[in-house]
Amino acid sequence: MKYGIFGGSFDPIHIEHIKIIKNAYQQLGLDELIIVPSFNPPHKLRLCESFKDRVEMIKLSIKDYSWAQVDNIEECLELNNSYTYLVLEELIKKYGRPYALIIGGDSLTNFHKWKYPELITKQTDLAVFSRKGYPDIFKTSQILKKLYSCNIYTLNNELEDISSSEIRAMIMTGIKRRTLFLQEEVLIYIEKNGLYRCFDDIIEKLKGSISEKLFLHSAETAIYAARLASKNDISYESAFLSGLLHDCAKEDSYDLSLYPNIPNQVVHQYESAKKANRFFGIKDEEVLDSIKYHTTGKPNMSVLSKIVFLADKLEVNRHYKKVFEYRNLADRDLQKGFLTVLMSVYNYTKNKSLDMDKLTLETVLWYNNVNE
Ligand SMILES: [Fe+2]
Ligand SMILES: [Fe+2]
Repeated sequence: MKYGIFGGSFDPIHIEHIKIIKNAYQQLGLDELIIVPSFNPPHKLRLCESFKDRVEMIKLSIKDYSWAQVDNIEECLELNNSYTYLVLEELIKKYGRPYALIIGGDSLTNFHKWKYPELITKQTDLAVFSRKGYPDIFKTSQILKKLYSCNIYTLNNELEDISSSEIRAMIMTGIKRRTLFLQEEVLIYIEKNGLYRCFDDIIEKLKGSISEKLFLHSAETAIYAARLASKNDISYESAFLSGLLHDCAKEDSYDLSLYPNIPNQVVHQYESAKKANRFFGIKDEEVLDSIKYHTTGKPNMSVLSKIVFLADKLEVNRHYKKVFEYRNLADRDLQKGFLTVLMSVYNYTKNKSLDMDKLTLETVLWYNNVNE
């Protein structure tokens, strides 16, 4: 049997996964495609939903494809870490040698960091898919082919560059455009079983304390922060919560005399950090810090703070002239994206003769004098 393996956390499975599955089946001429959900993925941060629910959602998604099936081997193995080479060993015992292991272009770039890549390439060839805007698979494939003496097939896809983390954030915040990325059956299953509700308390509280317009901006900032977090191996929860609450006090009235010499448009960052702590019960200092400096920035920022700073300025409802250029940059290189957006905020404030905050100035000076 000529079969391919497609693994992942599928938390949840979405339409881009389905495109990969269909393309791999057709383009590789497979008899069967086996989907292997991770039980306890070694590279990823903790999962939101149970193995059982993730499997159920996969089953619903592939019900029309007789050639596709789910294998729950990772659950049966009870391994502490479901390393690919160990899972492959078991799949080979069960089905024989696979034709290809299907992986993403980003995974291919990091393939050398996987556990025993040389063992994996002895067990199977690879098939790689890329997302829009990531054209550099060919070069990486050539290098890895030589290094590991294996075949690497390239799949032609027109995939959106979207991750399960972003889609999860859309589900959690109830944003309408989630329906564009999930199959109807999966959406119904999520709804019926109350999945992805872990932040419901905070979300309901936030909805009750800010306008609909500001909630939409906050939700989209959380979604964008989740996107950048997944690209930079940063805690999903911290990024999501920081993005969600970054403007939580923006519409409140507060005593401006407590903030002498601070421009009015900046004060809400300090008030939002306070409110996130006192009203929403956020204790994590890094989260509070990323809220506290999301407008001005500050010298020596954490990766999380840079992500929230960027997400606020790049979220999907921002429509200024260079936003696409900045999004592309931030997607590929967080530091470069951060520096570019920081300078654009600084130049905008300067050119419009707006009040320049001292901290923004310090941040610009600091980042123009260090090589991080
Ligand atoms: Fe803000
Ligand atoms: Fe904002």
